[in-house]
Amino acid sequence: FVEDQTEIIRASWNQVKHNEVDILYSIFAANPDIQARFPQFAGKDLKTLKSSSSFASHAGRIVGFFSKITELNPNDSGVSAAKTLINEVAASHKGRGVSKAQFNAFRVSLTAYLADHVTWNDNVAQAWEKGLDNVYFVLFSAF
Ligand code: HEM
Repeated sequence: FVEDQTEIIRASWNQVKHNEVDILYSIFAANPDIQARFPQFAGKDLKTLKSSSSFASHAGRIVGFFSKITELNPNDSGVSAAKTLINEVAASHKGRGVSKAQFNAFRVSLTAYLADHVTWNDNVAQAWEKGLDNVYFVLFSAF
């Protein structure tokens, strides 16, 4: 059921949604090419950046996207609101030259972070896989 999947995703996201800095740090640590795309962060020492306020504010915006998405309900209006948010990210990132491969690498790192930091089992893994498939389907339809 879509409702069950939504609940599983929400319950696990709630366990890490305030770890914005930690999450962006782990994504940059695993993907220096993603960090290099950020004009403010390119070439800088990641450990030093981690404690800066500009890093925290970027992390809040990027990771906050997933908080917004998971708060929406899986009905017509929720799905359409999600599509609008995803299309905005697609458009702004396409304009910056972010590649599909980088989006996929971001997903791999985010999922690895979740697996390490939330209660993880096959049901949870499957719910995230389906949820992220949905998000990425919309995202990549713009590429
Ligand atoms: C900015 C979300 C993946 C590079 C942003 C913003 C959001 C966001 C909400 C701020 C609004 C905007 O400027 O569009 C996401 C989400 C991602 C993702 C949800 C994955 C699903 C990536 C990847 C890269 C990237 C893979 C690079 C390879 C950037 C850059 C900015 C940005 C360069 C602008 C930062 C600045 O203001 O200086 N992202 N992003 N993002 N993102 Fe992403």
